[in-house]
Amino acid sequence: MIRASLAALICLAACGEQTPPQMAADSALAPSEVRSGYTFLQPETQALQDDDFSNPSYLWIDRGAGLFSQAPEKGGAACASCHTGANLPLEGAAARYPAYDEASKSLVNLEGRINLCRQQHQALAPLAYESDDLLSLTGYVASLSRGESVSVSIEGPAAPYYEMGRAYFFQRKGQLNLACSQCHNEHWGRQLRGDTISQGHGNAFPAYRLEWQAFGSLHRRLRDCDAGIRAEPLDYGSELYTAVELYLASRAGGLPMESPGVRR
Ligand code: HEC
Ligand code: HEC
Repeated sequence: MIRASLAALICLAACGEQTPPQMAADSALAPSEVRSGYTFLQPETQALQDDDFSNPSYLWIDRGAGLFSQAPEKGGAACASCHTGANLPLEGAAARYPAYDEASKSLVNLEGRINLCRQQHQALAPLAYESDDLLSLTGYVASLSRGESVSVSIEGPAAPYYEMGRAYFFQRKGQLNLACSQCHNEHWGRQLRGDTISQGHGNAFPAYRLEWQAFGSLHRRLRDCDAGIRAEPLDYGSELYTAVELYLASRAGGLPMESPGVRR
């Protein structure tokens, strides 16, 4: 395997043209070569994801299943009493997020949708992004779509968000002046700091990362990638990261949902 050092990656930015363009080359990922991050993992990490009893994510998923069927303390319906087998089932729902929400006139991801239900249907305050409760509920709902093909709408009111997310993906940034696309479109399969660079899909998230020793959201993973190129990470739940999430889901072109994934 070719070994690309970080120095060589930095070189992509600094050793190129004299007047570096703001945007990286608009390289695309050919649909026929789309591969899940899972296929780049060591066999031991794959085995953790494959076996629900070894997958540490289940500490969160089981807790999420409990929260889902628990009625709010002040009264009202539990998630489970509205989302039963026959009525508003959530199997497959996570595969369609992020999605444009007419009522709030915004793009919402699964975390955002769950918080809308808390506010609109349970008279509860939204849960903080990356709190154990929100991660657990999101993980549980996402697990109901395991194996479903990622399939988001980028039409109509979702289109401007798709464009926003796509632009971010090709935007050079940070002290290393690198774009997402330079690692995940142009250098996937190469080694970087002990990792094999994957194509940067979001289909395993929320996921348990060994480095975090915890279950975490896709936005947490994006913050790590931005920090890795010494760019200022965006806020959890920000509109722009949610737009990037939409772009990634569209780019994943039908990969199966893997959440709860396990990653290094
Ligand atoms: C009182 C009934 C009610 C409760 C309680 C409720 N929901 Fe919902 N939920 C809905 C309705 C109705 C929708 C459809 C969108 C809308 O009209 O708000 C929905 C939509 C959703 C969706 C999107 C489904 C899709 O196919 O796009 C998710 C995910 C979801 N709810 C999760 C939850 C979770 C998790 C909880 C508990 C924290 C919860 N809901 C509590 C009624 C409820
Ligand atoms: C310097 C190279 C580099 C840049 C630039 C970069 N990443 Fe990453 N990214 C990595 C590495 C290394 C990993 C961990 C191994 C892998 O690719 O799954 C990773 C992981 C990911 C993952 C998780 C994939 C999985 O299956 O677990 C996603 C999603 C992702 N990156 C998206 C992005 C986005 C979006 C950007 C731009 C905001 C970005 N990355 C910028 C190197 C980079």
